[in-house]
Parts: sequence; C-alpha cells; structure tokens
Amino acid sequence: MPRNDKMVLAAFMQASNVSTYAGSWLYPSNDPDYLSVDFYVDLARQLERGGFDFVFFDDRLAMPGIYGNDVATTVETGARPVKLDLITILGAMAAHTKRLGLAATYSTTYYAPYHVARAFATLDHLSAGRAAWNIVTSVNSNEAQNFGIDQHLEHDQRYERAEEFMQVCTGLWDTWDEDAVIYDRAAGRFADPEKVRELNFEGEWLRSRGPLTVPHPPQGYPLLLQAGDSPRGRAFAAKWADVIFTTGFGLEKAKESYARHKEGVAAAGRRPEDVKVIPAVCPVVGETEEIAKEKERYLAELVDLRASLVLLSEVTDVDFAGLDLDAPITEETLAQIPGSRGAIQGLAKWIGGDGKQVTLRDLASRRATLNAMTTFVGTGPQVADQMEEWFANYGCDGFSLMTTHMPGTFEEFSRMVVPELRRRGLLEEDPDASGGGTLRDRLGLPRRSAGTRAGMPA
Ligand SMILES: Cc1cc2nc3c(=O)[nH]c(=O)nc-3n(C[C@H](O)[C@H](O)[C@H](O)COP(=O)(O)O)c2cc1C
Repeated sequence: MPRNDKMVLAAFMQASNVSTYAGSWLYPSNDPDYLSVDFYVDLARQLERGGFDFVFFDDRLAMPGIYGNDVATTVETGARPVKLDLITILGAMAAHTKRLGLAATYSTTYYAPYHVARAFATLDHLSAGRAAWNIVTSVNSNEAQNFGIDQHLEHDQRYERAEEFMQVCTGLWDTWDEDAVIYDRAAGRFADPEKVRELNFEGEWLRSRGPLTVPHPPQGYPLLLQAGDSPRGRAFAAKWADVIFTTGFGLEKAKESYARHKEGVAAAGRRPEDVKVIPAVCPVVGETEEIAKEKERYLAELVDLRASLVLLSEVTDVDFAGLDLDAPITEETLAQIPGSRGAIQGLAKWIGGDGKQVTLRDLASRRATLNAMTTFVGTGPQVADQMEEWFANYGCDGFSLMTTHMPGTFEEFSRMVVPELRRRGLLEEDPDASGGGTLRDRLGLPRRSAGTRAGMPA
C-alpha cells in the first residue's frame, strides 16, 4: 500500500566528547567545543533549518567502567567519559528555536518520578509544547553505584518500577486540569482549587503525593519515546511510547521489528498509526559515490580498538580486558552475556553470516565502528533511495540519524539528502509553513492526558 504520510526525522545526539561512533572525536573536522552552549544552540538552529523534527540526546549515568574494572582506558581513549546533564542543554536550545522538538533520556530506575515529571513539564511550557522524554530503565551496576545502590535491579523488576514511574508522572501531569489557571486579577483568583488536586499514589516501588508544582503541560503529556527490545520492553513501549526507537541489520529485520511493534500497540488497545517506529541509522554522504565510500573506509580505520572494547564491555556487562582478541567467540559464550545479549548475538550472526569464525577482535572492531550500525552510504540521491525503500516497505515511519562527526554529519545530510527527500514528497517541503503547533501536532500524534488516555492504564 503506497504511503501518503511523511517521514519522521530525528537527530540522535550525545552531550559528550564523542558520538555513538567511538572514533568521532578523532575526525579532523569534528567540533571539539562540546562544553560550550554555542555548540548546542548552533546545532539546534542547524537541525531546525535542515528539516529535522526533533533532536534526541541519549544518556547513561556512569562512565564506562566494566572493561578492566576501571575507567582508565575509557578516559584515555575518550570512549564516552563525558555526559552532560540534558535538560539544561534542551533549555538553551528551546530559547533559540521555534519548531524543533527537544528530547532527553531520563532513567526510571535512578531518578524520582516527581523530579522527572517536573523537569519535562517545565521544558514543555518553556518550549511551547516541544518536550520529549526518552524513557530508559538503565543498563548496569556502574550506574547503580553512582546513586549509592550496590546492585542494578534485575531486568523485569526495572520494568515493574518503570510501569509505576509512568503512572506517577502521567498522574502528576494530570493533577492540574488544562483550564485550572484563571489569572483573574479583579477577583483575586489565580487558579480554580476544584481543578488542582493531590495524586496520592501508593505503589509497590513508588509513592508520591502531588500536586505537581507545574500547571498541565501544553502537550498534555510531553512526547514519550522508548526503545524496549525484550518482550517486557516491547509491551512497555506499546503501552506508553509515542515514538519507538529500534535498531536492526537490514530491511528484512527492520520490517519484522516494525510489524511486531505495531501488533503490540494494537494489542495494547491503541491505534498503530498513533505510534511511530524509527530505527537508528548512520548516513555517510558524499558529493560523489567515491567520496562517500572513501569516507566510510576512513571512518572504519579511525577507531582505537581499546575504545571499542570499552564500549563492547559496557553493553554486554562483560569484562573483556586481558582476553585473547583472536580466540573464537562461541554461541555458548554469547548466550551467557548478562547485558544486551540480543544485540550482540545479532551482530555476531551478521559477522559470521558467510561461515566465518567470529572472534573478540571482530566483535570489538565492529561494535564501535560503522559496521555495528545500519549505514546508508552514497550520494544524496543514493542515501535518499535507501531511506525511501525502508519507508515505502514499512520498515519504519522515519529515522533517528546517528553521527560520525559533529556537526558535519547533520550539515552534509541537510545539504545533500533532505532536498532529495523533499523533492520526493517524503518530507515537508517547508516545515514552517503550517505555522505553530506542538511537537505532537507536527508529528500527527494525538494529544494525551487524563481525558484522552487510549490504551493507557486506568
Ligand atoms: C536508538 C536507541 C537509543 C537508546 N538510548 C538509550 C539511552 O540513552 N540510555 C539507556 O540507558 N538505554 C538506551 N537504549 C536502550 C533501551 O532503553 C533498551 O534498554 C534496549 O533497547 C534493550 O531493551 P530491553 O530493556 O527491553 O531489553 C537505547 C536503545 C536504542 C535502540
């Protein structure tokens, strides 16, 4: 069935010295100014001009420290040692943009729901309805220890807590009716006490009294993002998310994942079209095909293998320091990985697809280079062809674009690919033409609040 909707375009960012591609800080034109506000403000303006719907920052609440059981290699190789607080950055971006959506990752395992509900309600007001929250349950014990907890909660328990966390946050946003504020100076009435109430949530994991100290957010609830991949995570996403992040190797896998998520959304009693599914992909664009391919080759060689091992240890929760890089990695070894097992099994299967014996060196060198990501390499029209193929065949509703260097990846994409996608009618010709509206309005997603909670818990 031909599609007549538009692609969602998100910029997948890190408030860090480095992007998800571990060599990005070494790239000659990479801007080293990641600690200055101008870096983020300039980027936000560029993304808005370039046709992006929203910027999204990922996060982790600890330095990678599994490899060698310390952070020395992480710090030396620049393997994501820096992560700035995100709401502060989004506030600065909000002040210098009009349309761009602003998304940050906040953890349901380590933050308190009152704090998160308040932060995102504030951002939603200050940005006139452009706030988005990437809901994560966090990944490892380094994060736990930074918050004074010895052991990271077990996977499904994290989701149980996350479930209550969402009930508290949405409940707190609903403690003010939309029309509670009167601001009647003559009558001396600021707000209607009938329309502001306590929440009094008492769960197994969490308690909160309320009301929130921020009036009802402009979007009802800020846009909710999530990336659950386990059965439990997918069910959570189906119930709560407005946008689901995915990964995947190739179009066939993307189509399977897309269909599975949409079925989950329907099973949760929501309309499949009310939830967007967007895989993370990495564009490598060149003025000619040769330039793009040369860039891809150069990027693959730039990464320090030790940085790759640090990141591999981080996602798998396995200390790979001191292991033989060329020893074979067996199915049994993979099956015992406590961390993101599925993703690494997928990577190993992909590397070993042609019957090759997979080694730690293979996994590490691909984990942190472009080969671990779905890459679209080529000229503007060639990259647009690949994106169109995924979109037209229901592999996705749009993309979250990862960077190899900053702000170069977004500049090149906006200059060479966006005009091509617009020409094909896959993106809005002029996203500002429709005037105002919240982020939800622009993405064609329904407003959600106590009155409109389709598929959400009572
Ligand atoms: C595009 C994308 C971005 C993600 N960003 C983060 C993040 O910033 N922080 C984090 O702790 N986890 C992040 N994750 C991991 C997910 O939250 C989730 O834990 C993972 O997909 C595994 O699913 P599961 O928890 O259901 O097993 C991300 C996943 C994807 C696919």
